[in-house]
Amino acid sequence: MCPKPMENYVASMVLSALGDTLGYYNGKWEFLQSGPDIHKELAEMGGLGNFSIQGWKVSDDTVMHLATAEALVAAGKNPDLAHLYSLLAKNYKECMKDMAGRAPGVICKKNAVKLQPERPGGWRIPFSTQEGGCGAAMRSMCIGLRFPHPEQLDTLVQVSIESGRMTHHHPTGYLGSLASALFTAFAVNKRPLEAWGKGLLEVLPRAKAYVRDAGFFVEENMRHWHYFEEQWIKYLQERGIADGVSPPAFPSKYGVAERDSFYTSLSYSGWGGSSGHDAPMIAYDALLGAGASWAELAHRAFFHGGDSDSTAAIAAGCWGAMHGLRGVPATLFQELEFRERLEAAGRDLYALCSG
Ligand code: AR6
Ligand code: MG
Repeated sequence: MCPKPMENYVASMVLSALGDTLGYYNGKWEFLQSGPDIHKELAEMGGLGNFSIQGWKVSDDTVMHLATAEALVAAGKNPDLAHLYSLLAKNYKECMKDMAGRAPGVICKKNAVKLQPERPGGWRIPFSTQEGGCGAAMRSMCIGLRFPHPEQLDTLVQVSIESGRMTHHHPTGYLGSLASALFTAFAVNKRPLEAWGKGLLEVLPRAKAYVRDAGFFVEENMRHWHYFEEQWIKYLQERGIADGVSPPAFPSKYGVAERDSFYTSLSYSGWGGSSGHDAPMIAYDALLGAGASWAELAHRAFFHGGDSDSTAAIAAGCWGAMHGLRGVPATLFQELEFRERLEAAGRDLYALCSG
């Protein structure tokens, strides 16, 4: 049995896409690097829930998330992993045909088209130091929906890493995929939020052992392993939740401008949320601060000066798995692009999780 009802699965897929759509705003808000300016425009539009998103496209994040989800569904009940990987590679390659107006990531675009799903092992690409972006993290929440059971942890680890390194063969990139999948599985399992970060650190040795045993560019992966882990340890200490039980400690003043500076401070190259370590980190920070409030989640994870569509897609995917559609104005997602496909993926993933 699945610990959450089907509506939470549907909400996770739909809200992730809605978060992406809002954070992206047809490119306008993803690339507007001032949280205060985005919040000003949002207020001028009447605030969240008081405008229509008709004509707002989902970005690459959702197109690739659907690619992941639909491959998981196509692989069926007891998936053979080699078959699943070729289905994932096929979908990643195919989905690049639907990227007009969606601002796909540079590395996603470059590597997805090179995949050769019809060839054995054709889903593998070489290691690269340039592949630590959030393009793997933004599309893996559904892996947590598919494999949430504790006895499926090894499968979750392997599938999130291998699907991630089909385009991002760097630990900072594919461990972002692991983080988004794992957090969504934690959401399904009703694990308290303050325990998620510690839970991620506890899974990393397993991930490292898997990468070592897989025998593919091992030395390069081990050499670049430390960054992701160090950044997460630092963040959890700063929030006071390294023990996994204490409540998060936020600065006394932590408004839109302060969050922008904090998100920037987490980043690799100055754009908060654009890498594999900090996209799930900012999503997590927003979840910790928002509780059950959809509006607060949106303010923290969707509307900021960093890589807002990706942090939004991850945060909203987890939030939907936890809370369903509770408190989300229906008017907001009525016009959502791909709504039916997203709902179907949610239902199918639920059936596979429960079966
Ligand atoms: N470690 C950490 N960050 C890195 C590393 C590294 N080794 N190498 C590159 N980056 P990009 P994507 C950072 O453009 O991952 C869509 O717009 C780099 O500094 O290759 O393919 C989505 O909405 C850069 O800031 O993207 C996302 O915004 C960042 O990785 C994005 O594309 C993104 O690299 C995701 O796709
Ligand atoms: Mg995007």
